[in-house]
Amino acid sequence: MKKKLSIAAVALMAVIQFVPAAPQKSNPPFDAARGFEQVMMPPSEVAAILKRACYDCHSNETVWPAYSYVAPVSWLVQKHVADGRRMMNFSEWLLPAENEFSDWSGFEKICTEVRTGNMPMEGYVKLHPAAILTEQDKQAVCGWVDRKMAGPK
Ligand code: HEC
Repeated sequence: MKKKLSIAAVALMAVIQFVPAAPQKSNPPFDAARGFEQVMMPPSEVAAILKRACYDCHSNETVWPAYSYVAPVSWLVQKHVADGRRMMNFSEWLLPAENEFSDWSGFEKICTEVRTGNMPMEGYVKLHPAAILTEQDKQAVCGWVDRKMAGPK
C-alpha cells in the first residue's frame, strides 16, 4: 500500500512538471538608466542591502534558484515574483511615461516594510539566510529613506 502510494506520488510529481505556470520564469529586459540605483542614488550600503534582500522578487534581475524549477514550488515562486514586481520593481523605477520619479508614498513603503519585518517574505528568508536584515541594515535603509523623504520633492 505504502509503495503504491509513493509510486503514485512520484508519478504525480512527474506529471505536474508539464503544467505551464504563468507567467514564465523570465527576466524582462530593462534600462539601467531608469532603474532604482540611477534614479534614487542610494548609498552603496543601502543599494547592497536591497539587492540581497529584495531584488529576487522586486526586480527584473531575479536569480531563479534550482527549487524554482520544480513544480509545485515553482508555481509559488513565480507568483511571488510576479506579484512582487507588480507592487514595486527596482529595475523599472521610472514608468515608461515618466521622466521624474513621483511615487514617494510607494518609496516610503520600503522602510515601512523593512521596519515591520513584513519584507523580505518570511519563507524566502528561511531559504536565503543572506536576506536576513540586521538591526543595523534596517537603520541604514530607513535612515536613508527618511532623509530622502525630508528632502525636496
Ligand atoms: C520572496 C519574494 C519577496 C521578497 C524577497 C521581497 N518581497 Fe516585497 N513583496 C512581495 C510580494 C509577493 C508582495 C505583494 C504581496 C504582499 O504585499 O504581501 C510584496 C509587496 C511589497 C511592497 C508593497 C507593500 C504594500 O502593501 O504596498 C513593498 C514596499 C515591498 N514588498 C518591499 C520589499 C522590500 C523592501 C524587500 C526587501 C527588504 C522585499 N519587499 C522583499 C515579495 C517579496
